[in-house]
Amino acid sequence: MKTLYYGDNLEILRNKIPDESVDLCYIDPPFNSKRNYSQIYNNIGGEDKAQAQAFVDTWKWDDQARDGFAEIITNRGGRFTRQVIELIKALELILNKYELLAYFVHMTLRITEIFRVLKPTGSFYLHCDPTASHYLKLVLDAVFVSQGGDYRNEIIWHYGQRLMHNKFKFNAKHDVILFYAKSRKMRLNTVTEPWSREEISSARARKILIDDDGREFIWDNRSVSKGYPVTKQYISDIIEKGKAIDDVWDIPMIPATSAERLGYPTQKPEALLERIIKASSNEGDVVLDAYCGCGTTVAVAERLNRQWIGIDITYHSIGLILKRLAGPTGNELPKDLVVDGIPQDMASARALANRQDDRVRKEFEKWAVLTYTNNRAAINEKKGADKGIDGIVYFASAPGKTERMVIQVKSGGANRGTIATLKGDMQREKAELATLITMDEPTRPMIEEAKNAGQYEHVLMGRKYDRIRIVTVAELIEQGARLELPLSYDAVKPAGSKQGGNQLGLDL
Ligand SMILES: C[S@@+](CC[C@H](N)C(=O)[O-])C[C@H]1O[C@@H](n2cnc3c(N)ncnc32)[C@H](O)[C@@H]1O
Repeated sequence: MKTLYYGDNLEILRNKIPDESVDLCYIDPPFNSKRNYSQIYNNIGGEDKAQAQAFVDTWKWDDQARDGFAEIITNRGGRFTRQVIELIKALELILNKYELLAYFVHMTLRITEIFRVLKPTGSFYLHCDPTASHYLKLVLDAVFVSQGGDYRNEIIWHYGQRLMHNKFKFNAKHDVILFYAKSRKMRLNTVTEPWSREEISSARARKILIDDDGREFIWDNRSVSKGYPVTKQYISDIIEKGKAIDDVWDIPMIPATSAERLGYPTQKPEALLERIIKASSNEGDVVLDAYCGCGTTVAVAERLNRQWIGIDITYHSIGLILKRLAGPTGNELPKDLVVDGIPQDMASARALANRQDDRVRKEFEKWAVLTYTNNRAAINEKKGADKGIDGIVYFASAPGKTERMVIQVKSGGANRGTIATLKGDMQREKAELATLITMDEPTRPMIEEAKNAGQYEHVLMGRKYDRIRIVTVAELIEQGARLELPLSYDAVKPAGSKQGGNQLGLDL
């Protein structure tokens, strides 16, 4: 089973994931710290206000944090160990910045659930940065070790080199991945990486020699030290076997020009997840990522024939993951994929539109834009002058030429003026087409105003389309209304071709 959950991972872990059902869990929660250690630890303002603000935006000492704190220290539901309760009480005394306590409360609640859902043979990898790793180790020890779990490694992911000199500290070029076992029953698969010839000779403290057949070898130093008859080890055999990896991983960040890069700011390289998944799971095992972002873990788990569970609180992530799994052709979604938590009827669409959650913005709008465009729109996160536009789609209009469609979503209160404003936005954005997705049925004046915007001639498709179209949420959900636009010229059959027109035409 492959399941993508849209929602808060605490609720989903508690309500949907059974005890002892997961073989491997990797998480990479948001932290938003980077260079501002002193700002996070103390109350001092200073050099980088934007970063400090990003942290405060993410972790607030709000009702949710207060409730989570109370839940832990009163051991509501009997979920927490004595060590966890004492640790959170102690952190309250130590941390004079409550945003940081909010972060540890959030993590403690979730790590407690992750421990519960892991099988006795299960492994847990927590990806963080050096700003938080020392505190998180305390949380992990309190949750895992107090219940028979075990600390295994602090993995250093060294992701880059920077040659520029820094006057105040060494360049920070690593993240920390804390690796814990649910119990002593956990086992690791052997994972190797290629040796270089130089490494072989320095690791064995032996010179590479050449035998009478011209084959390179070294003397086996284990047999030397143990007094056994000295044996030859051929370099080709050693290279073939590979080098067992240690706890410092040199894996570069995804290069800016790589096809792997999806434009998601915190995207991790597949090579990193491949190593973790291969080391701590086998084919058919269940891999969980409770903060799955743009889906690196689930994409690699899928490729390596694991079952998987992905959870994310933003629809932007869910949309990106669906697009990533669908592949370049758009048809490769796993057959047994279940997507849970997305609106399936008008009541749940309304609930999403009315959801009050300070941690996420414009979720209903993102869901509507991405669903209508089969996850192909770019979401407009800006709050400035163009705030009326929620998404933009680029489509091929002629060889080498792309045009845009702007999309606006209204969860209520749409009227004729909405269409007039959308028309203005379309012109300002130099877009050829615009779509309004509305919760309510459009009124007659709205339909007339949209018609008045005229038509666009898509030369390549040999068709004319209304410049402004109105789609209702009911059409989106009940009739599966979707926009189909050719992204590139190659995808379009010559104008007049019946098949091309049907397959790729605008669904208007
Ligand atoms: C650092 S990113 C993960 C990036 C991911 N490893 C990748 O390679 O794409 C953290 C993710 O956690 C999600 N998130 C934050 N709080 C969450 C919560 N309470 N429940 C579920 N997801 C959450 C965010 O929406 C974000 O996508």
